Amino acid sequence: MELKPGLSALVTGGASGIGKALCLALAKKGVFVTIVDFSEEKGKEVAGLAEKECAEFHSGLEFPVVMFIRCDVSNTGTFLNLTYEHCCNAHHVRELKAAFEKHFVTYGGLDICINSAGIGDIVPFHNDRTDGSKSWRHVVNVNLVAVIDCTRLAIQAMQTDQKPGVIINLGSSSGLYPMYTGPIYSATKGGVVMFTRSLARFKHQGIRINVLCPEVL
Ligand SMILES: NC(=O)c1ccc[n+]([C@@H]2O[C@H](COP(=O)([O-])OP(=O)(O)OC[C@H]3O[C@@H](n4cnc5c(N)ncnc54)[C@H](O)[C@@H]3O)[C@@H](O)[C@H]2O)c1
Repeated sequence: MELKPGLSALVTGGASGIGKALCLALAKKGVFVTIVDFSEEKGKEVAGLAEKECAEFHSGLEFPVVMFIRCDVSNTGTFLNLTYEHCCNAHHVRELKAAFEKHFVTYGGLDICINSAGIGDIVPFHNDRTDGSKSWRHVVNVNLVAVIDCTRLAIQAMQTDQKPGVIINLGSSSGLYPMYTGPIYSATKGGVVMFTRSLARFKHQGIRINVLCPEVL
């Protein structure tokens, strides 16, 4: 897909690191960007920087060229069938589906979805005496379950739009080789790699879905 002004992208984890760099690179091409992240301070800062870049390509629009939506990608909620007014008035949408809907109604579609939100292993899982909901299970929910959910929501948005789309999931080299210091992280990234590779058939619908597997940056 050739990046050009007027396309739109939703980037999870866009408040920092790889996601931030991609948000700014897209905005520099005039692509409308929605940053989905739970870090409000950093997310708003990146939105401000991206807006300056993107605004160079657009004037007189009745909608923002860049939006920050504070949202925990592991929060699926049940905020179904939002109206346009709901979406526009929801300044703090927290559910993932609502974030996608807000992007869709604001920009009239979704061309690019980048799933960069991710976290590392917090405590060695074998020493964990909790139910894991704040530790290893949360890592699985953020790194794997939410990537599946975001990919699902992006495919549905792109199918509704019937335009070509691109989805990029952030895997890791730890999804290709074992990471002895982070087995849960490695498991989630291995899951992201195989999940994404199993979606190759969507290219026949014009939806290209790829996984990136960086080493430590
Ligand atoms: N940086 C590396 O060396 C490296 C290497 C391989 C893979 N990766 C992967 O690339 C992706 C980005 O890595 P990074 O280094 O830029 O990370 P980072 O920590 O700089 O950025 C991750 C972002 O995700 C956000 N985030 C985390 N949990 C979230 C949640 N539940 N809901 C919403 N937002 C959430 C954070 O607030 C942060 O802004 C991750 O998936 C990571 O596993 C990174």
